[in-house]
Amino acid sequence: MSNTDAQKGKKPVILIVDDVPRNIQVLGALLNKPEYNLAVAMNGQQALDTVSKIKPDLILLDVMMPVMDGHEVCRRLKQNEATRDIPVIFITAKSETDDIITGFELGAVDYITKPFIGSELIARVKTHLALKVTKESLQEEIATKNKFFSIISHDLRGSFGIILSFVQLIQENKDYLSTEELNELLEDIGKTSKNTLDLLDNLLEWARAQTGRLNFNPEKLPVKALSASIIQSLNEIASNKNIDLDSSVETDHEVFADKNMVLLVIRNLVSNAIKFTPQKGKITVSSFSEDGFVKIAVADSGVGIDKNKMDSLFKIDMKVSTPGTENEQGNGLGLVLCKEFVEHNGGKIGIESELNKGTTVWFTLPKPN
Ligand SMILES: Nc1ncnc2c1ncn2[C@@H]1O[C@H](COP(=O)(O)OP(=O)(O)OP(=O)(O)O)[C@@H](O)[C@H]1O
Ligand SMILES: [Mg+2]
Repeated sequence: MSNTDAQKGKKPVILIVDDVPRNIQVLGALLNKPEYNLAVAMNGQQALDTVSKIKPDLILLDVMMPVMDGHEVCRRLKQNEATRDIPVIFITAKSETDDIITGFELGAVDYITKPFIGSELIARVKTHLALKVTKESLQEEIATKNKFFSIISHDLRGSFGIILSFVQLIQENKDYLSTEELNELLEDIGKTSKNTLDLLDNLLEWARAQTGRLNFNPEKLPVKALSASIIQSLNEIASNKNIDLDSSVETDHEVFADKNMVLLVIRNLVSNAIKFTPQKGKITVSSFSEDGFVKIAVADSGVGIDKNKMDSLFKIDMKVSTPGTENEQGNGLGLVLCKEFVEHNGGKIGIESELNKGTTVWFTLPKPN
């Protein structure tokens, strides 16, 4: 999940908009706390400019301002997709009931009256910042679930359709099929079923990562041993394609990360390298020490990746999958999961590729302290 800033522990930014310096001073003093960052604007236009630059988490907006009053500022914020969801609290005089009602009609979440009561102001600010975090995380969760369901309905439905059609073929022709033909069809059913199960496993893994229900136990790990175990388990598939699968990982390189996640990432990258490298190619897993991180790279001499596909490879809603050099099938979820898991461990992932020359996929993981 690309957590919201607030969830990531970033300090929320509160923008105070008032044309009266004294009011700004008072509000600033009341909200001057280590857990907030404050920004200030002295008129409506300045407020709009500042909002577009810093995207605050909450706006305290004075109603009565010359040129562009607070209501107009709010109207414009609500018209703009990018600023629509920023909660606005109006600042108004106690007696101005009409102002208060107009404020709510314009989409404000609350109002505070002058003169300010410190504890009330802080309570309202806290409540609305917390509500914003909750709302954003709910929105993200819904978006994730929607993506999840659209993939399930599209890909899984497709796979089951194929399996079912094979079964029907057998049922309708069982009296005429030779043993060989029957075996072939059964093999197809087996392959598609396995692929469907892989897809389901990956999807569930991804969904667990999205909802934070992931087993995460980072520990000190020797990179060489991990990559060696993956290389060993995939060596047979590589040698079937006469591919030379090699490691040049440094013996003393260690990372602090979750073992299962790192294994999944290396396995996916090496599998991809094998899949997209033709006969007699070469694949090397290597490691490099960087400032506080170890960079692990899987380089192949394979088919390479088209430039305009590069940006979509890590996105679940733009799944890219092409068959391997020997028609190996995939679901286009491997790299999405890799990115998820690398970032979960505090690292980065990237790809460099040249068509018909080869591809290097690298990722970083933090070193142990
Ligand atoms: N080493 C590589 N060389 C060339 N193309 C690659 C390489 N790695 C990935 N790709 C391209 O990126 C696509 C997405 O890779 P990804 O691992 O996400 O999915 P997949 O391998 O197709 O399926 P899955 O991993 O879900 O079984 C691949 O289908 C392929 O087009
Ligand atoms: Mg893959």
